[in-house]
Amino acid sequence: MKRTITGIKGLDLMLKGGIPKNRVVLISGSTGTGKTTIGMQFIYNGIVDHNEAGVYITLEEDKQQIKQDINAQGMNLDSINDRFRFIGGHIATIQRFKRKTKANVEDLVNEVEEVVHEIGAKRVVLDPVNLFLMLFDSDNEKRDALALLTEKLKKLNCTTLLLCEVKEQSMDISREGFEEFVADGVITLYNLRCGPSFYQGIAVRKMRGIEHHREIRPYEITNEGVVVYQTQPWLPPEE
Ligand SMILES: Nc1ncnc2c1ncn2[C@@H]1O[C@H](COP(=O)(O)OP(=O)(O)OP(=O)(O)O)[C@@H](O)[C@H]1O
Ligand SMILES: [Mg+2]
Repeated sequence: MKRTITGIKGLDLMLKGGIPKNRVVLISGSTGTGKTTIGMQFIYNGIVDHNEAGVYITLEEDKQQIKQDINAQGMNLDSINDRFRFIGGHIATIQRFKRKTKANVEDLVNEVEEVVHEIGAKRVVLDPVNLFLMLFDSDNEKRDALALLTEKLKKLNCTTLLLCEVKEQSMDISREGFEEFVADGVITLYNLRCGPSFYQGIAVRKMRGIEHHREIRPYEITNEGVVVYQTQPWLPPEE
């Protein structure tokens, strides 16, 4: 199976070569676990190291602020302008647009498709998938919307990361309870408390079609992005 190398070395090793190409992977974690950093590394490394254009869809944070924060982690988004698109906007604005124009999920997916075509993107990140799903009312609509978006991105030959916010200390993988079933792969980020400190661990929970490592490995968010350590599985430090 062909792979998409994330460029986060330790993670590619856990995956024994990267994410299967044209698949959809859920990255789930509570607040501050590095979801946006991983999403940006995936897009940035794709452009710089593999000449694969990328689209980052954000529905939450201020784009300028994300650019600034990501820049501090060594990724200059202005330097990759021609192969990168940063789209989306605040959820409230999109809600208004959706109501005003009576846009349905097909219209929203078409907007994404247009941008993917424009730059020939091979990598897409949706940050966070939770807010995208808030655009729809019933559980059925939410599930159908996610299925439509992910099927479309697969047809366009994109490898996609869906960043998913979960509640702190919860053992849930997703917020709605179905995202992990729509996705081909699931990577979870843990913020584990041990005494007075928190330790971060990452695990590949599923990855359809490939063999991968299964243990929790330690990682850190650094000024060069997320670094996953291979040396040992995650173990709480001795008191
Ligand atoms: N330049 C940096 N050097 C080291 N660590 C950093 C740097 N920038 C951010 N961090 C760490 O990364 C965390 C934020 O990471 P990120 O925004 O990727 O997480 P997230 O899971 O997307 O969070 P959110 O729940 O807010 O969406 C910060 O709380 C901080 O601990
Ligand atoms: Mg984030």
